[in-house]
Amino acid sequence: MKLPTRLGLFIPLLALILLGGCKDSGTEPQDTPAPVVPPGGTTISFSQRVRPIFQRHGCAGCHGGSGGLTVGTVAQLLAGGDHGPAIVAGQADNSNLIKKVLASPPFGSRMPVGGPYLPDTTIAVLRTWINEGALNN
Ligand code: HEC
Repeated sequence: MKLPTRLGLFIPLLALILLGGCKDSGTEPQDTPAPVVPPGGTTISFSQRVRPIFQRHGCAGCHGGSGGLTVGTVAQLLAGGDHGPAIVAGQADNSNLIKKVLASPPFGSRMPVGGPYLPDTTIAVLRTWINEGALNN
C-alpha cells in the first residue's frame, strides 16, 4: 500500500517538471548565452580603462609618437604601426595589440619589451574593449 502511494505522487510531479521544462524551452531557447554587453552600453571605456593600462605598463613611453605605433588614441591604434592596424574592431584575436601582449607573438618581441608582462585580467580588459567595437568612449 505504501509503495503505490509514493509512486502516485512521484509520477505526476515528474510529469509536471518535464512539462515545465518543455514550456520554457519553447519560448526561450536554453542555450541562449547571457548578454556580455548590457543593453544600451559597453562595459569597457577607452579613456577610463584602456588608456591607463598603456600608461601604467610603459607602453605609452615607447609608443608615444616618436615613430611607428602610437597608443594615445583610438585613431592612432587604428592607424597602427609597421605591421598594419594595432586593432581590428570586434576582433580581438585578429588584433596585433592582443597578439603582441601574449606569449610568442607572430613578429618581434612580446610587449612590453623585457616585461613585466600584462596579467591575464588586464589582457581580458583589452580583449573585451576590442570585441565591444573598440569604441572611442
Ligand atoms: C621598451 C620599449 C617598448 C615598450 C615598453 C613597449 N613596446 Fe611595443 N614595441 C616596441 C618596439 C621596439 C616594437 C617593434 C619591434 C617588435 O615588434 O617587437 C614594438 C612593437 C609593438 C607593436 C607592433 C606594432 C607594429 O605594427 O609593428 C604593438 C602592437 C605594440 N608594440 C604594443 C605594445 C603595448 C600594448 C605595450 C605595453 C603593454 C608595449 N608595446 C610596450 C617597444 C616597446
